[in-house]
Amino acid sequence: MAAFTYMGTKKSLARTIGALCETHEPGPFLDLFSGISAAGSSVAPKRQIWCNDAQVFSRTLTEALFLSNEDSPRATVIAAVVQRFGDKNLNALVRENQDQVDEELRLLWGTAHDDQIQFQAYVRDQTQQRKAELELGYSHCLFTTRYAGSYLGLVQAIQIDSIRYGADMALKAGLISSEEHRWALLAMCRSIAGISNSTGHFAQYLTPSPSNINRVLAKRKHCAWACWLEALNEMRAVGDTKWRSKNRVYHGDAIEVLENMDWSKGTPAVIYADPPYTNDQYSRYYHLFETAILYDYPLAEGKGLYRGGRFQSSFSLNRQVESSFERMISAAGKSGASLMISYPSNGLLPNSLQKIPEMMAEHFKIVLDPLVIPHKHSTLGGSKGREKEDVEECIFLAIQKPLAADSLSDLKHS
Ligand SMILES: C[S@@+](CC[C@H](N)C(=O)[O-])C[C@H]1O[C@@H](n2cnc3c(N)ncnc32)[C@H](O)[C@@H]1O
Repeated sequence: MAAFTYMGTKKSLARTIGALCETHEPGPFLDLFSGISAAGSSVAPKRQIWCNDAQVFSRTLTEALFLSNEDSPRATVIAAVVQRFGDKNLNALVRENQDQVDEELRLLWGTAHDDQIQFQAYVRDQTQQRKAELELGYSHCLFTTRYAGSYLGLVQAIQIDSIRYGADMALKAGLISSEEHRWALLAMCRSIAGISNSTGHFAQYLTPSPSNINRVLAKRKHCAWACWLEALNEMRAVGDTKWRSKNRVYHGDAIEVLENMDWSKGTPAVIYADPPYTNDQYSRYYHLFETAILYDYPLAEGKGLYRGGRFQSSFSLNRQVESSFERMISAAGKSGASLMISYPSNGLLPNSLQKIPEMMAEHFKIVLDPLVIPHKHSTLGGSKGREKEDVEECIFLAIQKPLAADSLSDLKHS
């Protein structure tokens, strides 16, 4: 299902991963860095899926996709009850901020760009200043007090808080199941992704200026509720209940999860690793999703308003990237499974085309030549200035026993 679209251009890569898996014997596919699980979804439901990611958002998504008891949420029922409860929060927060709400709506469809730019800064300051007061009076005002005037408009932030309020109250009243509540939160993330004013991945919001104000306002005009409804209607688990009952979702550092795995309780056929490839921490890109799920009133720090205490991946640290690969490959080698790694030729690990096969050779019987695929990589919002750059994406494969020779040659010619 298309619950979330891939954050880069890795769809075709996922298809190659799927094809490579076909050359393996049956058995689970362990996706160590599952993110939004483009790779896992390309393999499912042919194999059982075991997912892992350090982010709570990814865990929540993959649990919904791969572990749900029900195939899909009762979208109409959920929408009705979430609205019924949510309206209470919505009306109260709108009344509390009535002047600014009126002004935002007045300016939104106008052409007074200077006023519009100033207004965004004003909303940011006002809601921040009133944070303590609002938080005392309202259980659900997190997005209003942290992201109004930055990633979201004021009305949009109030809508998001009210969807969350409605979903929480509906769950508490026993009107929706915890699975449905989870789908509601994931739809909330999709809504945030659709309406937020950012360079694409929440690493930063666009500070309104004369050159981008039309782009900012185009985002501000989206209705968070409508986007949520649309997303909720599309939410659907993968496979059937029986297949899903045998999947697993882990949540932790990939290396630790691998090292602590008890292989006597089952082994995957393929371990797939798609680690971060730059020194930009992924937790910067997922922070709004993370906050939407956790709803824990985090400190929103710095220009990007990031969560405090974000996960720092050792694969994104210059001094740890090499030892991280070594530990991961060594732990995977003990499992008996094949190891497939996606990594660009110019990632943070220097000289990866040579180094990864060398490391693999220490722990696996057979190391195949890497598949090198010319590819446009997302620089995740262009923090280094360009949104897409040409790279060679490589797929490294190490195995413990020979694959069927004909299936491999099929792949080489595909
Ligand atoms: C390149 S993305 C993977 C994308 C994924 N293949 C997909 O289809 O969406 C890297 C992912 O790894 C996660 N991550 C980074 N370092 C990690 C670590 N040490 N342990 C577990 N997850 C990690 C990030 O949160 C992010 O979701």
